[in-house]
Amino acid sequence: MRSKKVDYTLLSKYYDDVRVQPPNVLEFCLSKIVDLGKISTSSVVLDVGCGTGIYTIPLAKKTNAVIFGLDSSKEMIKKAKMKEDGQIVEWQIGDAENFPFDNAHFDCAIMTLVIHQIVNKKKAIDEIYRVLKKNGTFVIMTKSHGQLRRSLIMDFPKTRQIDLKRFPKVPKLKYMLLSAGFENTRYHVVSAGTTKVSMKEYLEKIRKKFISTLTLLDEEEFQEGLRIFEKKMRILNAGNEIIYEKEYTFVVGEK
Ligand SMILES: C[S@@+](CC[C@H](N)C(=O)[O-])C[C@H]1O[C@@H](n2cnc3c(N)ncnc32)[C@H](O)[C@@H]1O
Repeated sequence: MRSKKVDYTLLSKYYDDVRVQPPNVLEFCLSKIVDLGKISTSSVVLDVGCGTGIYTIPLAKKTNAVIFGLDSSKEMIKKAKMKEDGQIVEWQIGDAENFPFDNAHFDCAIMTLVIHQIVNKKKAIDEIYRVLKKNGTFVIMTKSHGQLRRSLIMDFPKTRQIDLKRFPKVPKLKYMLLSAGFENTRYHVVSAGTTKVSMKEYLEKIRKKFISTLTLLDEEEFQEGLRIFEKKMRILNAGNEIIYEKEYTFVVGEK
């Protein structure tokens, strides 16, 4: 049984270097969140597991809504706060399983690429239900198991096993929302656009372990994966550029 945990104190140091989205992908995801979350200027929104604010700050700029960003890592929040425009968000260090907020405080809660990190998912979903107002929406951006299987890092030994275990299947997630009391639950499987990066840049991202799954591998497993990945790219004759699709799944519920 693997007991390694993602170290966000370490990841915070280079998270933005490797995880910032290309503008077309960011814009696509934000529009989807605004649309599904019914976010308007008058909304009060909670970004749960906001990290360094990659979505939080642009969402605040795009909507002029009141946005709270909560994360359990004080280092991630510190990075978010220090950013240009960081002051337009209310930052909060806290745990998704036990919010420091009153009941019925928010019109919308969002989670971008976080649900797989939460230890007690039921508790966090119940907490989100509690802090949402009546008719409030909850938007989860995640990856379906099909999307995970298509990920380029799945060549690394054990990543498939780790991620398929960490990420809840979409029907299960829908069921969890329903069990917490959410209604009108639904999901949208989307392509947020293609991305083109140089092979050098992509390898650099991999070496920096840009996806948290890679940080959970033993060094030997990681090096083995790197060798397999490089060989595959040579066989595919991928050349100097790598083009891949950014795929996500949005799961939504209403209170
Ligand atoms: C992969 S990062 C995603 C950050 C951000 N949402 C994004 O998409 O860039 C996952 C974040 O979830 C946070 N996190 C994990 N478990 C949490 C919990 N129980 N409560 C609050 N934040 C949590 C981590 O500290 C980390 O910043």
